[in-house]
Amino acid sequence: MLTLLVSLLILSGIAALLALFLEIADSYLADYGEKQILINEQKQLVVEGGRPLLSTLMGQGIFIPSACGGKGTCSYCKVKVLEGGGPVLPTETPYLSPEERNAHVRLSCQVKVKDNLKIEIPEELFLVKEYRVRVESIRDLTPEIKSISLRIQSPEEGITFKAGQYVQFEVPKYKRTSGPEYRAYSISSDAAERHSLELVVTKVPQGAVTTYVHDFLKEGEDLRATGPYGKFYLRNSDRDILFIATGSGMAPVKSILHQVEHEQLRKKVQFFFGARTPKDLYYQEELLAWEKTLPDFKYVPTLSRPLEEEHWKGEKGRVTNLIDKYIPEGANIDVYICGSPAMVDSCVEILKKKRIPDDRIFFDKFE
Ligand SMILES: Cc1cc2nc3c(=O)[nH]c(=O)nc-3n(C[C@H](O)[C@H](O)[C@H](O)COP(=O)(O)OP(=O)(O)OC[C@H]3O[C@@H](n4cnc5c(N)ncnc54)[C@H](O)[C@@H]3O)c2cc1C
Ligand code: FES
Repeated sequence: MLTLLVSLLILSGIAALLALFLEIADSYLADYGEKQILINEQKQLVVEGGRPLLSTLMGQGIFIPSACGGKGTCSYCKVKVLEGGGPVLPTETPYLSPEERNAHVRLSCQVKVKDNLKIEIPEELFLVKEYRVRVESIRDLTPEIKSISLRIQSPEEGITFKAGQYVQFEVPKYKRTSGPEYRAYSISSDAAERHSLELVVTKVPQGAVTTYVHDFLKEGEDLRATGPYGKFYLRNSDRDILFIATGSGMAPVKSILHQVEHEQLRKKVQFFFGARTPKDLYYQEELLAWEKTLPDFKYVPTLSRPLEEEHWKGEKGRVTNLIDKYIPEGANIDVYICGSPAMVDSCVEILKKKRIPDDRIFFDKFE
């Protein structure tokens, strides 16, 4: 048995090495020349072959959502490759459902442009642009969260986005990285403001982009961002609204609350926010002010680990407890959830038990 296991391990090691060798040889030796990419039967590009479809399109000013920075771990970069994409790769299979495979959906960061391609992308992606942004200010919101204010240098007209959407923000090569790296960050500022953006960034230990933002980023620095992306925005409906967030998941909710304020929405709006200790609460002033100025808004923070000496008098426990406590079965609400995948999944599970239909639950998972 042990011999069999060892042989299997050796064989898979050899296979992995061979695949790596072929990949390296391919990138150095193969010359694919010029290739054509036909997009949505309407736009024809002539590109240099050999690179991933995602970065090839990016080089042509077509930006596909790619929250993980093209590392093959987020699955945001799905496009339909109708012709020329070759077989689905092992790196793609965990992210594609049987229906998606039948519909020729692929991860554009994994598909290489080796042939002429015919692809389909959502029309709204033609509206995504690249921005030069200047860091205006960096502020500590909590011990682990910073906000960065960015002024858009170009294009001159600034950015148009729906409250709740995100941008992909790039930081330059530094000692931890081998090149520039970008990740997705939700916009926390008011969508009415077209020439500046505020992002809220939680430090991730060993994280490429967050370490740069927390430890190296300087005011006055010029960087690159693309956007807007995402479908986490307010839907038109007569129902009341429940927002649920933890950590930097507050960012898109804050942006949407600016919209609620501008539109003076006459519906009940509740916001359940989960943090560990009072030090992890932020944007308190804005939220408490909205309780006074919005027609019907309630902000309910809950702490999972308040210390006795902090004398916390508010709700205790996780945000899921608040759903249990305050949301009746079959409530007539739309729910918007944002934060870690585990938190989002737990909330969705409880909401389903409360008979809130799937099509009234919207979320962004910060993976
Ligand atoms: C749509 C969308 C919107 C997002 N908006 C925001 C936002 O507004 N603010 C924000 O701070 N982040 C946001 N994120 C997460 C963000 O895009 C990055 O994933 C995160 O900042 C980590 O990037 P990094 O380069 O520092 O870490 P990486 O170098 O990518 O990761 C380093 C290691 O940390 C792990 N890791 C990555 N993220 C986390 C995490 N959150 N907790 C624990 N471990 C982690 C990785 O698996 C890896 O092992 C969003 C993500 C998505 C998909
Ligand atoms: S960009 Fe994240 S999986 Fe392709």
